[in-house]
Parts: sequence; structure tokens; C-alpha cells
Amino acid sequence: MKLSGNTVLITGGSSGIGLAMAEAFLDGGSKVIVCARDQQHLLDAQRKRPDLEVQVCDIADEAARKTLAAFVTERFPGLNVLVNNAGVQRDIDLTRGLDDFGAGDNELRVNLEAPIILSALLVPLLARNPNPALINVSSGLGFVPMANMPVYCASKAGMHAFSLAIRVQLAKLGVKVFEIVPPMVDTDLNPAGRAKRGGFKAGLGPEEFVGAVMQGLANDTPEIGYGMTAGYAAASRAELDRRFAEMNARWGS
Ligand SMILES: NC(=O)c1ccc[n+]([C@@H]2O[C@H](COP(=O)([O-])OP(=O)(O)OC[C@H]3O[C@@H](n4cnc5c(N)ncnc54)[C@H](OP(=O)(O)O)[C@@H]3O)[C@@H](O)[C@H]2O)c1
Repeated sequence: MKLSGNTVLITGGSSGIGLAMAEAFLDGGSKVIVCARDQQHLLDAQRKRPDLEVQVCDIADEAARKTLAAFVTERFPGLNVLVNNAGVQRDIDLTRGLDDFGAGDNELRVNLEAPIILSALLVPLLARNPNPALINVSSGLGFVPMANMPVYCASKAGMHAFSLAIRVQLAKLGVKVFEIVPPMVDTDLNPAGRAKRGGFKAGLGPEEFVGAVMQGLANDTPEIGYGMTAGYAAASRAELDRRFAEMNARWGS
């Protein structure tokens, strides 16, 4: 896809991968609007990049989503790229019944339902403009799930399936669909889970990862992985099973 001259809405663009993508699109000469729940974080991002447009929105909230779609349609009628990036991740142990599931953000709503509905709300606008694209951020954990995050992994596997199907549907409107498949990146995602695992760092920052993502977008690569996830799109079922067994070998021990 063309990396300049776009009008881009990035959900969850106040930190991490979303903010790094926002900066990369701004640097390439696109207009960028980001949304997130925390106004202070949005204002911090805008202080760093005064050319960034920011909007408070909880994408899990139906009314807020509609308000966001109406806002961008009116203020940014040239919107041609939607990046479904906002996401939450929690360790959830279902052996404890519903306790963990109900104790925080609903990952199915934020990571899967919201991007599907936002896409539906905005695809007609994207398709009216030149070079339209829908960019979904899934996860390596949608391909190779981890036992301590069953709901997150299910939401991301759903995002992968959604991306495959919607790519075929939107082809007739000329909307390109990309799926970004991050490996572990050092961001603010799931601080409690990361602390439980000893504050483990992947040694991969969002800027380095997004550098590879922008290259993939420029090359029209439909599924963009990096490092450990680079081969997931082409991996056989046997290979994914092997990685799954390896990743979960110590679960419960
Ligand atoms: N980091 C990784 O290792 C990794 C690996 C694979 C996939 N991913 C995916 O990459 C995406 C970005 O994550 P990240 O690592 O950059 O994490 P992050 O730094 O925590 O960023 C998440 C962003 O999403 C926003 N957000 C969360 N819930 C929201 C909601 N309900 N409505 C609107 N915005 C919301 C957050 O802002 P507020 O909290 O203020 O709303 C923040 O801007 C996610 O989809 C994540 O699942 C990350």
C-alpha cells in the first residue's frame, strides 16, 4: 500500500505498537487520528507529536464507537485507512471458574467484537476514498496459543479468521486487508502477567517492530510477522503444533 498521503485512524494509538505506527505514518506524510480510553495518555502522545489528532473512545462501548465513527466521518471525510490495533491481554485461569474472566477487561469485546463492528461502521467511508486499507493487529498467540491466556488467544485467533474472510469480501470494494502478527514486543500490554513472569523482556521495542511492519505494508504483504512470527503464515499445522507443545510444556508444573 502507499505509505504517504493517507488519512489513518488507529485505535489504541496512545502507546506501544499503535503509537509507533502513528508516528511512522506521520513521518511518511499521512494524517493520523488515534483513539484510546485514557485522555492523559492521549495528551502525552500529542505533546510528543503535536501533528497527531487524538480522540477519547472506549471501543468496547457501542455508543462511543458510533460517536467515533460519526466524528471521523464528519471531521476526516478522506479517511482511507483503519488500523484495528487497540487490545487488552490478561492471564485468565478458568480452573477457578468465572472469577478471573469477570475481574477485568473483556478481551472478546475489545480485541474481537469492537474491531469487527468498527470495520463495518467505517468500511463504506474507506471505500469511497483512494487507496483504502484495513489493517488488523492479531498476535502470534492467535496461531500458537498459550495456556495462561486462553481468552486472549481465542480473541486473536478470531481476529486472524476475520482478517482472512474480510480480505475476500472487501476485495470487490478495492479495500486491501492486512494482518499484523506481532511476536512479544516490550509495551504496556498485560503488566500483571508480565510481572508474574519476572518482568521478562523480549528485547524488541515497538519502533523496531513497526519498522518491519511498514516495510511489509509497502510491499503489500497480506500477513506481516516478525522474528518468531515471521514464518507463522507459511507454517504447517505440524510445525505450529510443535511450537504449541514447546511453549506450554511447563504449564501447571
Ligand atoms: N506487545 C506484545 O507483545 C503484543 C504481541 C502480540 C499482539 N499485540 C497486540 O498489539 C496491539 C497493541 O498492543 P501493545 O502491545 O501496543 O499494548 P499497549 O501499549 O498496552 O497499547 C494498547 C493500546 O490500546 C488502547 N486500548 C485498550 N483498550 C481499549 C479500549 N477498550 N478502547 C480504546 N482503546 C483501548 C490502550 O489505551 P487505553 O488503555 O488508554 O485505552 C493503548 O493505547 C494489541 O492488539 C495487542 O493485543 C501485542
